[in-house]
Amino acid sequence: MGQSCVLLALVAALLYCLRDSEPGLTSPLETCAWNHLEPHLPLLSVAPIQRSEFLARQTALARELDAAGVDAFIAEPSASTSYYANISSGFHLSERPFLMVIDKRGRFTTLVPKFEAGRIAKLDMVFDNKTTIAWVEEESPYEALARGTGYEKVMIDEHARFMIAAGLQEAGIEVVPMSETVQTLRSVKSEDEIALLKGINSFTLALVQSLQKCIRIGMTQEQVVDASQALFTRAGVGHGFWVLVLFGDQAALPHGGETGRTLQEGEFVLIDIGSELYGYCSDVTRTILPTGATVSDDLMAVWKTVLEAQSAGLSRMNVDEACSAVDGASRDVIQQAGYGKFYTHRLGHGLGLEGHEPPYLNGANDQKLKLGEVATNEPGIYVTTEEAALLGKKTGFGVRLEDPILVTKDGGVLLTGNRAQSPWSP
Ligand SMILES: *[C@@H]1O[C@H](CO)[C@@H](O)[C@H](O)[C@H]1NC(C)=O
Ligand SMILES: *[C@@H]1O[C@H](CO)[C@@H](O)[C@H](O)[C@H]1NC(C)=O
Repeated sequence: MGQSCVLLALVAALLYCLRDSEPGLTSPLETCAWNHLEPHLPLLSVAPIQRSEFLARQTALARELDAAGVDAFIAEPSASTSYYANISSGFHLSERPFLMVIDKRGRFTTLVPKFEAGRIAKLDMVFDNKTTIAWVEEESPYEALARGTGYEKVMIDEHARFMIAAGLQEAGIEVVPMSETVQTLRSVKSEDEIALLKGINSFTLALVQSLQKCIRIGMTQEQVVDASQALFTRAGVGHGFWVLVLFGDQAALPHGGETGRTLQEGEFVLIDIGSELYGYCSDVTRTILPTGATVSDDLMAVWKTVLEAQSAGLSRMNVDEACSAVDGASRDVIQQAGYGKFYTHRLGHGLGLEGHEPPYLNGANDQKLKLGEVATNEPGIYVTTEEAALLGKKTGFGVRLEDPILVTKDGGVLLTGNRAQSPWSP
């Protein structure tokens, strides 16, 4: 065989090997995990929010506005407009305001740039009867709104930009911040919202469990990331997908930051992952081991401490419990195990149309949990390699376990369906 033939054969062999990493082709990890995941697809068969529920939300808001003595509620495209009127938070915000206005009598108004009115009218907005105020480039949008409505005092959504509040004030309208009562309208979930959150979060856990059965020592972070994305996409819920895959000491930074690692024996894999079902978010974390792999007894003890901290938090996720007390219960367990200063973040956050929303479970929040609220329960212990040396250990690590919990009259209920049993049984 001539030299050029050897070279050609080598190139061909190389191309053959690279096949798996080309986009569009199915990796062995994806194929293996899909076999485990496919039977769980029915979890995603949940109906989107119906028109009648959107209208009921508008009525409930109107009632609160009336009670608060304000004329109307004003929001820019955001989770709030998704919630009240099905106006996607993905609508691009420009310097020209497009506002959703719901008043204390339940009347629905949009303020739109005149040249955009046609495009905005095509949105799948939900309302009973809509008034459109179109402002032209030669006038102040806020004066157009003031003139068109006569409102004197409005409540402004937490996500609206400062320029909106400033512009309204300049046009002579008094502006007040969103009240806790109005915030509660969205943080307390309806039956249909709970069904959607249960669907996407239990499916997300099933996906992590499927990955665990197929991940092997020697795989790269990118292989796990790519397979996760491919699995969500194949299930029809790829929109909204995100993931953190961290090996060993990479997980010492709770949100990671490094890439390009290969999984070694003796390392945990931390997977923090989520996607969306009709706008409702999932957020699940598991710290796992491939079948047959192990970590030191020391690391296993850390894993168990985190699980106990999660149990302690869960046992306090009851109606009327202060958010700070729930956080504190999980923190006590980790403190007693000697890792107090390595639990560097709050216990959790609300979950719904936003990946992070009220209620926030942290030491400073004295708000009480309400019936029907959903919040993640996600304690963790994070030790960098530098800190590990001070503790007499060789390498750093990070362990976190996370399940979103629904607050019911009988206590906290898992929206994932089940908690982690062990690193091999997530
Ligand atoms: C909400 O918007 C989505 C996406 O545009 C649409 O598919 C759905 O039908 C809308 N819902 C209602 C109740 O109109
Ligand atoms: C809708 O609102 C407009 C303007 O306020 C009003 O003239 C009209 O009668 C309303 N229609 C219905 C069906 O309520």
